[in-house]
Amino acid sequence: MIEFKKKIAEAIAKVINKKEEEIEQYIEEPKENNNGDYAFPCFRLAKDLKKAPPIIAEEIHSKIEVDKNIITNIEVVGGYINFFVNKELIAKEVLKEMSLKKEYGTSEIGKGKNIVIDYSAPNIAKPFHIGHLRSTVIGGALYRIYKYLGYNVIGVNHLGDYGTQFGKLIEGYKRWGNEYNIDENPIDELTKIYIRINNACKEDESILEECRNNFKKLEEGDTYCTELWEKFKDVSLKEFQKVYDILGTKFDSWNGEAFYSDKMGEVIDTLEKSGKLVKSEGARIIELEEKNMAPCIIEKSNGSSTYATRDLAAIMYRARTYNFDKALYVTSYEQILHFKQIFETAKLLGLEEKYINGLEHVPFGMVLLKTGKMSTREGNMIKLEDLLNEAIDRAKKIIEEKNPELENKEETAKKVGIGAVIFNDLANSRVKDEIFDWDTILNFQGETGPYIQYTYVRTKSVIEKVGGVPNIRDVVTTNILDEYSNKIFKLIYNFESTLKQVIDKNEPSILSRYLIELSKLYSNFYNENKIIVEDKELQNSRVYLTYTVGKILEIGANLLGIEMPDKM
Ligand code: ARG
Repeated sequence: MIEFKKKIAEAIAKVINKKEEEIEQYIEEPKENNNGDYAFPCFRLAKDLKKAPPIIAEEIHSKIEVDKNIITNIEVVGGYINFFVNKELIAKEVLKEMSLKKEYGTSEIGKGKNIVIDYSAPNIAKPFHIGHLRSTVIGGALYRIYKYLGYNVIGVNHLGDYGTQFGKLIEGYKRWGNEYNIDENPIDELTKIYIRINNACKEDESILEECRNNFKKLEEGDTYCTELWEKFKDVSLKEFQKVYDILGTKFDSWNGEAFYSDKMGEVIDTLEKSGKLVKSEGARIIELEEKNMAPCIIEKSNGSSTYATRDLAAIMYRARTYNFDKALYVTSYEQILHFKQIFETAKLLGLEEKYINGLEHVPFGMVLLKTGKMSTREGNMIKLEDLLNEAIDRAKKIIEEKNPELENKEETAKKVGIGAVIFNDLANSRVKDEIFDWDTILNFQGETGPYIQYTYVRTKSVIEKVGGVPNIRDVVTTNILDEYSNKIFKLIYNFESTLKQVIDKNEPSILSRYLIELSKLYSNFYNENKIIVEDKELQNSRVYLTYTVGKILEIGANLLGIEMPDKM
């Protein structure tokens, strides 16, 4: 496609003494159509050129030369230069791309680059909670979007399957295992054992000692402990898989913390050689006082390894195995300090600079519940599987009310219910805390997943009514230059750059907002313009536009992890 912004930057760069790339960065896309399609704010140059912005604007305007077929008008308003792009050209560019390319907006920018995304990562023998759902959803969206832009992406589920708590669990199982039905209801039962053994430890120091011993034995490969640990892992994974199946989540690697149990020696040796590993109250730590952080604990006073050490081993492993350009970690913001500590400590591992620079924590906010409204089992602990099933049930009720005749109600309810939960996780800037409220997330008129699906279904039914998508050769662009059509084409023209913004900031909500905006624009278009009309030429154009909108909504929603129903 023609890159309008680039063309404008090129033309400006020719008349002032500035780099094209810099100018391109400054160019804005005004919200109001009468301010042009692109605007250059001259105050950016005022300091350098020592002139007032309006004077700079006039000067550039008087000298600039542009291709009149591309830029039809240039206006100076105060310190801004506003550029109006040939409307028909935008429509033509979009339609050409839509009809020629199978996957609109794909790109090659990621070619040859490796991105590791560490996401989901629930803990064995503990419930898969709503925070893990957010990680799964955000990580999954990033995974697909990077891939769509041509990156080689490796999705890693860094399972919490190691650590002292397994020593406790083994001890509890050894004592009371036969009282619990672990195969039937693994997570709940193991949680009960865990709580019970924890209480026992508090009362009796010698039990705690036993637990520590068990973990030591596990680290040394003891058969009994290893077999039990494997059993816990097995039953837990079966539970987690239910959630992954509902969401359609897949991973390229399931290497969890335990995978690094034999790879931590190298970390400790390397840190030792760096001279920075020091003893402190029996533990071995890296001081990070200079960086205003608490120390990174590498080895506990009882000699066992830590979460941080396993993460350091994982960095080394991933650097070697995947040669990553970026390694992203998607967790709640509660772990901001942890990742700062390990990224700082990783500088001592002797890895190439490239790897250190590629490490990035992608934190997200908490999910706040409207208490009491959700089916909870134990206090505030929400079972994810229940939550997802409740979403499906609620969607089914709404469908039952609104469209009782619908075929495939089950399947549609699943797409709508799950789509609503996913969209809610991605709707706002990820670091913000999110409020989980059923009525909001399932509102078909709100800024929700179901609203996007509903708009998509509308485009489908228009196409069905006219008997199919018209041939692109029968589409005349001069009759779809009205305000609403033009706004839609402009937005669709920006689809690829929107995806690039998502990965620049690792912020899927940029795409969510985009899809809401497109849905709203299409509703306006739909209300203002009759689509099925006498004039077949006009009808063809409007139907093709409708098809284009539907396609983008579908591609975009799928990238977020949301499936589209055909009818709803
Ligand atoms: N299992 C951890 C938790 O539930 C998340 C792991 C994140 N990934 C990592 N490499 N530390 O909090």
